[in-house]
Amino acid sequence: MNINDKSGTEKYVANANRYNTMQYNRCGKSGVLLPAIALGLWHNFGFVDNQHNAREILRTAFDLGITHFDLANNYGPPYGSAEENFGLLFKKDFKPYRDELFIATKAGFDMWPGPYGNLGSRKYLIASIDQSLKRMGLDYVDIFYHHRPDPDTPLEETMVALADIVRQGKALYVGISNYGPKETAEAATLLKELRVPFILHQARYSIFDRWVEGGLLDTLEDVNVGCIAFSPLAQGMLTNRYINGIPNDSRAAKNFTYLEREQVEDNLLKIKNLAALAEKRGQKLSQMAIAWLLNRPTITSVLIGASSSNQLRENVKALDNLDFTAEEIRVINENS
Ligand SMILES: NC(=O)c1ccc[n+]([C@@H]2O[C@H](COP(=O)([O-])OP(=O)(O)OC[C@H]3O[C@@H](n4cnc5c(N)ncnc54)[C@H](OP(=O)(O)O)[C@@H]3O)[C@@H](O)[C@H]2O)c1
Repeated sequence: MNINDKSGTEKYVANANRYNTMQYNRCGKSGVLLPAIALGLWHNFGFVDNQHNAREILRTAFDLGITHFDLANNYGPPYGSAEENFGLLFKKDFKPYRDELFIATKAGFDMWPGPYGNLGSRKYLIASIDQSLKRMGLDYVDIFYHHRPDPDTPLEETMVALADIVRQGKALYVGISNYGPKETAEAATLLKELRVPFILHQARYSIFDRWVEGGLLDTLEDVNVGCIAFSPLAQGMLTNRYINGIPNDSRAAKNFTYLEREQVEDNLLKIKNLAALAEKRGQKLSQMAIAWLLNRPTITSVLIGASSSNQLRENVKALDNLDFTAEEIRVINENS
């Protein structure tokens, strides 16, 4: 809901019913509950994007009970701009709701030039969280992730840096992303010794991409850490977006993204089969893809992206039908 204050400035007032329909799941064995559907700001929130649209998406998300927003130092483009824009919108709309939000950021990929702006050194992580907090205008983030494993930095250095970030009050919890099962188990052991709350692994997981089933989910179960699945719609392929071609405003049509036209074309038959199955279930393909993930063990939350508030509204309706028959699962597996 939007109201005008005395100065005529539009003021955001969150939907009073925002907690009525969203489902909240526990992160591993921690005290933290996350919404079954969370919003990522990888795309659509940079300086290159429409700021009004970005604001609408964030407001819609919170109104739907989405309390978890996911950022990283390098989201944009340009790098840092998603955090900066989020900071502006946070100040305008969400400041009164800070304690109702669970905000994530990360460091681990290329961010600034030279040897200290990438990977997993203590030097990089500590400088990066300081920059992120400044860009977002926050005192702390709820979770800070190491974004990807660094094969050359000792794991202990990276984990101690995460622990120190928590002890400095700059993050409440820590997570890792894109780590394989063995590195995840080692990180969990170190973080347990350091008595730091390690609650989430952020991993790519969708009907089309199941690498986590090769051991990572079992490891996470063993160490009581939750999994938040990113790119659950395979960047838009697992939606009705590409059924009739590649629209000009879609991710696959843009040239600064990681989704190639060829990928869409190669998967089109499977996409059409899955969309037909979703229709039989009374769902859109995006809704079925999200519901399928929410049925997988260890999945705490499904981390979607959206280029419009309508996409977000459509996707949240996934929660209306989370059950699958054995035959539906067979068809999904056949088209994965
Ligand atoms: N840890 C990591 O390494 C890592 C890596 C990647 C992402 N992530 C996180 O995961 C988040 C989600 O990733 P993602 O954006 O790739 O997720 P995704 O949910 O697989 O893809 C989102 C895209 O799908 C399209 N879409 C969504 N709903 C739709 C609908 N109902 N109908 C039609 N099209 C729809 C939109 O693309 P259009 O632009 O075509 O409309 C949207 O931007 C990111 O924002 C980021 O926070 C983390």
